[in-house]
Amino acid sequence: MRRLEKLLYHMKNSLIVANWKSNKTIPEANDWLAKLASGFTKKEGKEVVLCVSFPLLHFLREQISKSNLDIKLGAQDVSQFPEGPYTGEVNARQLKELADYVIIGHSERRERFGENKDTLFEKVKRATEQSLLPIFCVQNENTEVPDGQIIVAYEPPDAISTSSPDSAPEDPEEMENVAYGFKSQGPGLVFLYGGSVDQNNVREFTEKNSIDGVLVGAKSLSAEEFLGIYQNA
Ligand code: PGA
Repeated sequence: MRRLEKLLYHMKNSLIVANWKSNKTIPEANDWLAKLASGFTKKEGKEVVLCVSFPLLHFLREQISKSNLDIKLGAQDVSQFPEGPYTGEVNARQLKELADYVIIGHSERRERFGENKDTLFEKVKRATEQSLLPIFCVQNENTEVPDGQIIVAYEPPDAISTSSPDSAPEDPEEMENVAYGFKSQGPGLVFLYGGSVDQNNVREFTEKNSIDGVLVGAKSLSAEEFLGIYQNA
């Protein structure tokens, strides 16, 4: 898909993105997918993107294709470098064979792995060169977003369920205004909210005109809960 087509496509759809983080083995991923498949009915305009660790991508891709499941795969990181002498890195050209999306700039990568703006903007460039769609995470309204970025996931660290025992989702009304703020800077921008989303609160976010979907961490680890989120969104 060309860039404009991608953009129009996403403007009409909502994205329900699972971020498994560093969880699950291949048998566990298999089990999750089987449970999802048994209850999943694709709804018009609602896309599932499953973002997993690198070792799960190939297996899940095969399984999704075998079971004709209408869901997309994403990675959770990509190298800032192209192919070459970068031991341990997974580059965008390799990822493109396995995934359509990639999360870039999650607060955990920024805080725990010291990824800064320059590194993250390079990653977006590498991903975009290979037609991977970056889901660029921002932590507040001042986080810089690369020019032309299509998908932004707004995730204040305090709202992330694993950040502290007191973490709580943001106020949906406030998120609606934040979304309008981002959209005024980038026409066609797709705005996702993330942070303690579950099947009971998801609709409060997705019913807002300016919010185009959610990024779900902890509650995506259970297929049943994730199905509930998808259905209620
Ligand atoms: P959470 O995580 O849904 O567990 O709050 C969201 C995220 O970190 O992407």
